[in-house]
Amino acid sequence: MCGIIGVCASPGRRLNTGEMVFKGLLRLEYRGYDSAGVASIESGVIKVLKGKGRIADLEKKLGFSRVGGSVVIGHTRWATHGAPSDENAHPHTDCTGSIAIVHNGIIENYRELREALAKKGHVFKSETDTEVVAHLIEEYLKTGLAPYEAFKKAISSIRGSYAILAVFSSQPDTIFFAKKDSPLVIGLGEGFNMVASDIPALLEYTRRVITVRDMWVGYITGDSVFIEELGKGPVEPSSYVRVVEWDLESASKGGYQHFMIKEIHEQPRALAETFYGALSDLSLGEAAKILLDARRIYITAAGTSYHASLHFALSMGRISKILVTPFIASEYESYAPTAREGDVLIAVSQSGETMDTLKAVRAFKERGARVIAVSNVVDSAIPRESDLPLYTRAGPEIGVAATKTFTTQTLLLSLLALEYGLLRGELLKSEYEELRKELSKSSELASKTISWSEGVARKIAEFLRFKNSIYYLSRGIGLPTAMEGALKIKEIAYIHAEAYPAGESKHGPIALVEKDFPVVFVVPRDEYYEKLILGNIQEMKARGAFIIGVAPEDSKLLDLFDICIKTPASNWLTTPITHTPPLQLVAYYTSVYKGFDPDKPRNLAKTVTVE
Ligand code: G6P
Repeated sequence: MCGIIGVCASPGRRLNTGEMVFKGLLRLEYRGYDSAGVASIESGVIKVLKGKGRIADLEKKLGFSRVGGSVVIGHTRWATHGAPSDENAHPHTDCTGSIAIVHNGIIENYRELREALAKKGHVFKSETDTEVVAHLIEEYLKTGLAPYEAFKKAISSIRGSYAILAVFSSQPDTIFFAKKDSPLVIGLGEGFNMVASDIPALLEYTRRVITVRDMWVGYITGDSVFIEELGKGPVEPSSYVRVVEWDLESASKGGYQHFMIKEIHEQPRALAETFYGALSDLSLGEAAKILLDARRIYITAAGTSYHASLHFALSMGRISKILVTPFIASEYESYAPTAREGDVLIAVSQSGETMDTLKAVRAFKERGARVIAVSNVVDSAIPRESDLPLYTRAGPEIGVAATKTFTTQTLLLSLLALEYGLLRGELLKSEYEELRKELSKSSELASKTISWSEGVARKIAEFLRFKNSIYYLSRGIGLPTAMEGALKIKEIAYIHAEAYPAGESKHGPIALVEKDFPVVFVVPRDEYYEKLILGNIQEMKARGAFIIGVAPEDSKLLDLFDICIKTPASNWLTTPITHTPPLQLVAYYTSVYKGFDPDKPRNLAKTVTVE
């Protein structure tokens, strides 16, 4: 997804604003992008450098970090309107070259605006929706409005989602901003201020931030911040300042080759933070009470977060014998009409900004449902719009493929399922304590499973790198983990992978199986499912499949696998924690052996802020 950044230095401070923006762009890379650019104002003239390609290459070619002046804005583009190209890269300018814009989001009414502006003689240089904003501001300037008024008027004329920054050559010490639906954060410094799509882009320079809310517009200079709510009036910035706890170290690679492998290894620590964080927070109990009063419970998410949601739905069924309806967020239109007052929606989103999930939240709220958010990013859009936010506390996740945020989501949601079971009287105190005791060992379990699987995951990756297709099978509580394993290898190693309940093989998929076709079996620690999976392994073996097992150290199936990753013995509820890290490692090494960059998978973005 696109990322934006801007830096304003006070006149007295000789800061290297170009370098600050360049470094910020590097930190935004993880969001996924195809082109990048910067705009500065030097001697009263806007200078734009931009192009298609990697930031490091563009830096060599164009010298982003060498631009100067008090004000610099930058952008990483993830193409939506118009193919990746030099022309479509941001910043975009108006006809006179005296306004430059960067934007993340989608301007829904850009066609009408573009046509109207073209009729008035505006000449467009790109195919993007963003460029209309520059021309629209130009048009309003012509009517005699001051830059900020013209900017606000343009913002009021656009529909859609946006985080926009604008600079004017006539006001070379100011960056104007506006936000709706796409994330934006202001960073406050000594003698400078910044604004960016997310916190890691600011962290090297400041930890004091203001999360910009929807419909806020305003501007920053090197030593001032002005904010107002569009159509409503000024907002006092100091009431929204908070200090971010993450440091740069936790957002950088720390000696690992990739963020993804670092984040896989961070799981023990992240799980401990989640567990102890949940203990010290009353929100979990409050959330359980909200669920207890619920007429019906839904849970929604996208991608990896959806797999964590499925784990929750299955756990609630097993612990409390109630139906929780999971659905993929982008399908909310089919579910929202069934909701009404008294219902509760749990919205799970690592970033808290996924547009599909946010839309689901809004649709359910409109129907009178209450919303509990589960997110990793404090103050992000989904928690903000929910009735009660719960935070995973996994720390920043930079790799596009989610790892530690998945296992921490499953831990937090499992703790919630236990609280609910106890409140509802479905769990005896002793059963509750036994299950909770296992969850309290999550950090230790993750640490064991990672160290046990490092070597064998590499061996499996050596085999899988030459394969075009893989099945990931399981049953019951193991299914979300199988789905997550398949998603990981698709995302970063570009191998077709399908996950489905093992019992379905005979209804179709087994037709594809021939000698050495790889089939991964995720075996939860559960006697009932183990017996069923035994039969499924046999039917795959009979057709020559190469069987890869991820199974508890004391499983009765260990001898049946061609190769096996043993996981520490725990219980059914911790399956995602014991069984997912090995599958993350398999995907990671397969990607690396195939020569890909697992941190930046093609066509994917970390935070998807478009529908
Ligand atoms: C994108 C990412 C996935 C992520 C999904 C949901 O597709 O590439 O890794 O699982 O969005 O993101 P969220 O931030 O809502 O959990």
